[in-house]
Amino acid sequence: MKKGFIFDLDGVIVDTAKYHYLAWKKLAQSIDVHFSEAENEQLKGVSRVKSLEKILEWGNKTISESDFMKLMALKNDDYLGYINTMNESEILPDVLKVLKFLIEKEQGIALGSASKNARTILKKVNLFHHFEAIVDGNDVVKGKPNPEVFLSAAKALNINPEHCIVFEDSVAGIQAANTANMISIGIGESSVLQEADFVFADFTHINSQFLNELINK
Ligand code: G6P
Ligand code: MG
Repeated sequence: MKKGFIFDLDGVIVDTAKYHYLAWKKLAQSIDVHFSEAENEQLKGVSRVKSLEKILEWGNKTISESDFMKLMALKNDDYLGYINTMNESEILPDVLKVLKFLIEKEQGIALGSASKNARTILKKVNLFHHFEAIVDGNDVVKGKPNPEVFLSAAKALNINPEHCIVFEDSVAGIQAANTANMISIGIGESSVLQEADFVFADFTHINSQFLNELINK
């Protein structure tokens, strides 16, 4: 049966959290706010606007609307500098193998990401052409844990949500997949991604037998 496999981008296909961290840290320093790696972890799956809101909240800062917009643009310019250096070598282990397996089996393949830079990143790492549908931060109003991004991806694939499977590294994303009535597969630590239906440390632990079971379910 044709199932819809929806991939999150950041932390699932590529590790961009390190670049988000560098860019947010630089921005936080410029406004005298401390920003740690642990705080960066909490921004996984969180939209750009919400991320800056949280950083300001943690630093007890209030700024004007226009300064807020300026800081967001600065952060993104800085982040894009890192993205610009990306190539295929940054695709996380066995992601391409799993993608190719699913394509071979004629499954629906979509991207469901909160990032407004998702298309740029997919092109940089040469994966853009593998995706039948792409839904990203430019296409949705409500961010994860709202299920909008995954429901839109299912719609674009023309596959019912209950026949979709989501790969996600963030808690908010797992909650979004569960609310969308999809099978949620956490990529990361099981202690963090407790709400997921399945958790794997990374794609090297996902074998063809497991994928076949999902397809034939
Ligand atoms: C992903 C990342 C978040 C990031 C968000 C928006 O969900 O995990 O850390 O804030 O995308 O990314 P953007 O590229 O639009 O700033
Ligand atoms: Mg992610």
